[in-house]
Amino acid sequence: MRESRAIPPESFATARLVLREARPEDAPLIFAAYAQDPEVTRYLTFRPHRDLKDAHEAVRRFIENWRSGKSFCWLIFRRDPGDLIGAISARPDQGMNLGYLLARPFWGQDFMSEALEAIVEWAFTVPSVFRVWAVCDVENAASARLLERNGFHQEGVLKKWSLHPNVSDIPRDCYCYARTRAKRVQF
Ligand SMILES: CC(C)(COP(=O)(O)OP(=O)(O)OC[C@H]1O[C@@H](n2cnc3c(N)ncnc32)[C@H](O)[C@@H]1OP(=O)(O)O)[C@@H](O)C(=O)NCCC(=O)NCCS
Repeated sequence: MRESRAIPPESFATARLVLREARPEDAPLIFAAYAQDPEVTRYLTFRPHRDLKDAHEAVRRFIENWRSGKSFCWLIFRRDPGDLIGAISARPDQGMNLGYLLARPFWGQDFMSEALEAIVEWAFTVPSVFRVWAVCDVENAASARLLERNGFHQEGVLKKWSLHPNVSDIPRDCYCYARTRAKRVQF
């Protein structure tokens, strides 16, 4: 029988980007590029990193989660000049649940569409995955637009779905967006 478990590639290359698994030495890059930025983390599930220790702890979790198969996080680098610009993750759960962020200087240049497309394309090669989905805070207009622009359909609002501690200490209402495939993967 074919393996239906997700076996993720360690890296992807797109026209302008390289996506790759996180390494311990990435922590200072992550801290400097986006993790301490309150604008980037505003609608995310974690508070801005206060120091390098927080970034090291985050990388430790990325590596551990990858090993256990709980979730897969790729850091996003521009091919040229090779700088870190963001991250995207996929968690096997009712299909594949995606999360993503970009450092602020890189918003508005369609980088995340490029990364998203690579991950969605891979996810739909996993035989058990018929649904790729993401949620975003109802006030996170940029994320909602990004998903719509990339063929995700809004399925509704999940009430009190996710704690976004930078906005409120009460779980937030979130839009749920999904892309689905109708057919089995052909081998
Ligand atoms: C979500 C994110 C990756 C999108 O980055 P991006 O793909 O570069 O998105 P853009 O800046 O091009 O914005 C996407 C769309 O939203 C629109 N938009 C951006 N900010 C907006 C705002 N505050 N209000 C209304 N629309 C907005 C843009 O005009 C654009 O519209 P278009 O598709 O019609 O051109 C980026 O905003 C980000 O990293 N945010 C912080 C982390 C985060 O919130 N991640 C998502 C968690 S669910």
